[in-house]
Amino acid sequence: MASQGFRLSPPWKSGYNDSGTKGTHLYPRRHTISREFEGTRLIWPGRALSEKKAFEAPKGFLDPGPNLDLRSHLLIEGDNLEVLKLLLPILAEQIRIIYIDPPYNTGNRMLYHDRYSKRSAGSRVIDRHDNWLSMIFPRLLLAHRFLKRDGVLFVSIDDHEVHHLRTLMDEIFGEENFVSMITWRKKVVRGRGNRHVLPQTEYILVYAREISALPAFSEPLSLEMRKAYPHADEKGPYKKIPFAKSGTRQSPRPNLLYPITAPDGTVILCPTHQWRWSRETFERRQDEILIQKNRHGRWTVYTKQYLREEGKERRKTPESYYDRVTTTDGTREMKEIFGEVLLDFPKPSRLIRDLIGWASPPGSSDLVMDFFAGSGTTGQAVLELNHEDGGERSAILVQSGSPTAYPGFPTIWSICRERVCRTRQRILTEGGNPLPVSEIRMVSDT
Ligand SMILES: C[S@@+](CC[C@H](N)C(=O)[O-])C[C@H]1O[C@@H](n2cnc3c(N)ncnc32)[C@H](O)[C@@H]1O
Repeated sequence: MASQGFRLSPPWKSGYNDSGTKGTHLYPRRHTISREFEGTRLIWPGRALSEKKAFEAPKGFLDPGPNLDLRSHLLIEGDNLEVLKLLLPILAEQIRIIYIDPPYNTGNRMLYHDRYSKRSAGSRVIDRHDNWLSMIFPRLLLAHRFLKRDGVLFVSIDDHEVHHLRTLMDEIFGEENFVSMITWRKKVVRGRGNRHVLPQTEYILVYAREISALPAFSEPLSLEMRKAYPHADEKGPYKKIPFAKSGTRQSPRPNLLYPITAPDGTVILCPTHQWRWSRETFERRQDEILIQKNRHGRWTVYTKQYLREEGKERRKTPESYYDRVTTTDGTREMKEIFGEVLLDFPKPSRLIRDLIGWASPPGSSDLVMDFFAGSGTTGQAVLELNHEDGGERSAILVQSGSPTAYPGFPTIWSICRERVCRTRQRILTEGGNPLPVSEIRMVSDT
């Protein structure tokens, strides 16, 4: 790692006076959530202080810096709040996708801190939820500022904090920018855990920076769906769909109701309220029309729906229930990479790859950020998605240097780095052309 550090020309020093009237919008001295907010606002002891933290000067610098090579994957070691503050002047409104998997506040003992315990502050008792909110709030305020207009944030969360998180995100992003709350079935085993209902699911909250600018999500058709295109002609595989439009009966459009003549001269009348196309379109697109007898011997009109349109294969809209992989897959993957499980409950990379793939078109070079990177699953997901669809997305991963007890991996960041490097190496041996990896360390002022 190069030894020369850098300090950004700090807007919080040069651009502001104490009244907060000058300077760039990235670091308003007195930050307020800019929109008029009329919804439910979550108030907790410590809120004002935690909000302030997002906009205080960062306590350190990045080494090396500041010429971030965004044609590489960036692995940044450091506390994410400080790192985000340092990156913001360079990357504000440039990130297309942020995925984060913050500590869930389960209270369990894990390699990373997942207990935001009750504590006293003077005469006040700060509850564990308050502590967690004070941790996540400034990071979300900053995350919002990194997103492009057509950007999107995915946040994994479970029952412990989902209700707080959603209210908070409604406030930061605006309720109108809520996209979905995906339910992930993370385990299928029966077992203990709760006397009343066995918990098997968690969630992914999805918010757009600006919903009207966020392109529709889509994903490849499943194998099953592809099989539903059993016919083929010179334009490729197709399936037959009835030319008569079904669905709720609306008042028919007169230009969509006309008789059609079968090959033997029989006149076919529309069996529903209207055909799909006007007569002109029907005449023009004759090569997409099939008039055949159905299994009852009745003449029926079909159109061909092709699997590929304008050179691209059809895709489908993802659903809000996700059950393709479980936490067991995440653990198995880690065992395959390292021979042991170095971090509890890593996400399965397929889950993250699918989420990124929904929002980022095939072959894109979007910037994807994860500032609770853990074992680097998001890095693996980005590398694999690029390998699959020829994209050049770069992953910007931030992970603290929290120590571990593993001699080969002294910090969680080193686990993250190793996973990304091993995945990249594998892709190289498979003939892929992955982007290089750059390592950056945050050096604290103290
Ligand atoms: C739930 S884990 C993420 C797991 C990850 N998605 C995976 O699949 O491996 C949360 C991670 O965030 C890290 N983390 C927590 N607070 C942090 C902070 N302030 N700065 C940087 N990393 C932090 C923890 O060390 C932990 O590795």
